[in-house]
Amino acid sequence: MDNLFDARQFAPATQRNRQPILQLLSQVLPPTGTVLEISSGTGEHAVYFAPQLKPRKWIPSDPNPTARASIAAWSQYAPSDNLYPPLDIDAQSPVWATEPLATPQWEYFSHLQDFPITAIVNINMIHISPMESCFGLMAGAERILPPGGILYMYGPYKYNHQHTAPSNEAFDLSLRSQNPDWGVRNLQDVVQIAQNHNLELMQVYDMPANNLSVVYRRL
Ligand SMILES: C[S@@+](CC[C@H](N)C(=O)[O-])C[C@H]1O[C@@H](n2cnc3c(N)ncnc32)[C@H](O)[C@@H]1O
Repeated sequence: MDNLFDARQFAPATQRNRQPILQLLSQVLPPTGTVLEISSGTGEHAVYFAPQLKPRKWIPSDPNPTARASIAAWSQYAPSDNLYPPLDIDAQSPVWATEPLATPQWEYFSHLQDFPITAIVNINMIHISPMESCFGLMAGAERILPPGGILYMYGPYKYNHQHTAPSNEAFDLSLRSQNPDWGVRNLQDVVQIAQNHNLELMQVYDMPANNLSVVYRRL
């Protein structure tokens, strides 16, 4: 028990952004089915959102084993009967663990037959990862979501290739100095990638701290 608790990680930004994100999710997510979260990170969002978004189910995921241990520890600390154990999903992978061709994660398959994935949520990933992760995310959303399914994305963006705030520009520089393949993405480029994958832009919402929520619908 203690070891699991020790695995909990803390990302202070989640405390600040979780309530505005929750408010929006409760409006834009389909009312039923399963939400697949890609890049859950610490798991703090998952344990906060899942109980408040019932009757939807919530499957968290992250390719980083330390993150998955943190998600599991948070889930044990703050359990919710609609929150499932974290899956190992790299958005860049051509097959995700929720798909029938993946290594059998059988409990999910029977569960997903009863509660199909109706939405994918992705918070603060595409700028802290190479562009291939964004391409992979859109390709996965196209494969997995049913018509009318929702892809929700949150993070900072450039608009028409311009930064929207000095703080975002400074963040972009710091990201690129850590990894030249990272960086704040241009909204119109990401929307175009989505369109190429049959994901129609529904709405863009201004969020606190110069972030955006961007909502797509699977055609
Ligand atoms: C800044 S954290 C954000 C975590 C969480 N969503 C949040 O807002 O606190 C970025 C996360 O993206 C994950 N990540 C990076 N590349 C990824 C990829 N290709 N597929 C899925 N997750 C990825 C990392 O492991 C990390 O947990």
